[in-house]
Amino acid sequence: MNAFILGLLFLITFPNEQVSAQKYAFVSVLSSNDFLIPAKVLAYRLKKLNSSIPYIIIVTQDITEYSINELKQQGVIVRNDTKIDTPYIKTHKARKYQYTKIRLWAMTEFDVIVHLDLDILPTRDISTLFECGSFCASFRHSDMFNSGVFVLKTNETVFHDMEQHVASAESYDGGDQGFLNTYFSDLKFAPMYDPNKAPHTCENYSMNRLSAQFNYDIGMYYLNNGRLLVDPAIFHYTLGPTKPWLWWTYPIFDLNWMWLDARQEMEQGSSADFDTCVSLATTNCLLIVSLLVIKLVIERFVVNVISTRSVSSIETHLVSQSIYLFSMWFALKLAHPSAQPVAAWVFFTSNLAWTTSILTAIYTRLRSGFDVKIQSIISCVFFTMLCYALAWLIVLQISHFNTRVLTAIFFILAQQILIVMFIRHSLIVKPSRQQTHKYQILPNNHYVA
Ligand SMILES: *[C@@H]1O[C@H](CO)[C@@H](O)[C@H](O)[C@H]1NC(C)=O
Ligand SMILES: *[C@@H]1O[C@H](CO)[C@@H](O)[C@H](O)[C@H]1NC(C)=O
Ligand SMILES: *[C@@H]1O[C@H](CO)[C@@H](O)[C@H](O)[C@H]1NC(C)=O
Ligand SMILES: *[C@@H]1O[C@H](CO)[C@@H](O)[C@H](O)[C@H]1NC(C)=O
Repeated sequence: MNAFILGLLFLITFPNEQVSAQKYAFVSVLSSNDFLIPAKVLAYRLKKLNSSIPYIIIVTQDITEYSINELKQQGVIVRNDTKIDTPYIKTHKARKYQYTKIRLWAMTEFDVIVHLDLDILPTRDISTLFECGSFCASFRHSDMFNSGVFVLKTNETVFHDMEQHVASAESYDGGDQGFLNTYFSDLKFAPMYDPNKAPHTCENYSMNRLSAQFNYDIGMYYLNNGRLLVDPAIFHYTLGPTKPWLWWTYPIFDLNWMWLDARQEMEQGSSADFDTCVSLATTNCLLIVSLLVIKLVIERFVVNVISTRSVSSIETHLVSQSIYLFSMWFALKLAHPSAQPVAAWVFFTSNLAWTTSILTAIYTRLRSGFDVKIQSIISCVFFTMLCYALAWLIVLQISHFNTRVLTAIFFILAQQILIVMFIRHSLIVKPSRQQTHKYQILPNNHYVA
């Protein structure tokens, strides 16, 4: 009787044993150091959601020792491999286009691999993807599937076959996505994978399509004015210049806050945030001190530039606008693109305010010989930062995406006019007016004395 029960138990557990004997892995390709932070965030999130599945990142020759060590600290298994260039390298200048992903089919030490782009964020356990079939990907919104998330069964034969076809197969985008779409052109006729239904694969197909919830294009959310039409298991931050690790995308692109939470979770206990704040603050202080020193040196040693002609209002308008635009460009260059967003905004605004105010004061000194008081400069800095802070807080409160974008554009234009007007009036017009006499050579107070 006991033997019978044991035998029954064995029969029941045997199929499960077989499933768990399958070797699974998440794999990504890292070919630019700019993607180190998203890679660490993804590694942290995957481990948190299901620590039993290894995460491997294939790093190409451009990745530094520093990045490799950072990844290892997140528990990532790092592999070196050379990049497979696209056969269209001559016509496609964009360096992101490559065929390295086909190496995944040759990683036969695993049975099933889920490939993940680094600009994604899983929100729940996605290990169900390993059961979807021999090749699965999501079409999202066209007849071409996206190669950001796909599932494959490793197979040496398929890998060699792909290698043979690399040169001849068409690629609509010049990269691996186009190539895989040609290679697996039948996928669009395959059934949709349903994780809740067993058996998972339809008998006539080994491939399955994946629902948009496994590769949710955030562009769809914004096109729908900030509405989700599925319940995403994976958010894919596709829109090029709005990647969530870029500080200037806040507070407009609200899905980025979710990614920022994941990043902060990952950085908890480390001093990364504090370090970036210190480095931003140091840059800011150095900038203010250098600008003030330049201003003092000019006031002390440059004496002969006093103009006797009055300055036209067209000139002051043009000059103050140009200085503002230049300072904006300069302040953008100073803040590291992937700095903590709130800190980066504060220091960007401060750098912008100080640069534009002091440069305008220097212009006034060189053009009409008047030394602008430090109090006037500080009031301009204060005004600029106040305008930015108010705009930021108002935009943050708006819940509809379209309204938020329009409001942000309105503020950018309105601030340009308002701030420049304030600075022009207090640093160019007012000082020049105080020194009214057309042929006056010495400052006013000289006559008083
Ligand atoms: C990868 O290559 C770099 C230098 O090319 C080397 O320092 C590093 O140890 C290698 N890492 C692995 C995991 O082989
Ligand atoms: C982790 O993945 C394994 C393998 O697919 C699965 O059996 C298990 O249920 C997952 N664990 C969690 C916590 O989701
Ligand atoms: C590998 O792919 C080939 C061609 O599709 C197929 O015939 C073979 O059965 C596959 N091997 C395994 C182990 O799945
Ligand atoms: C599989 O293909 C066969 C023959 O083409 C067909 O009769 C059968 O209905 C198909 N099964 C499914 C589940 O589509």
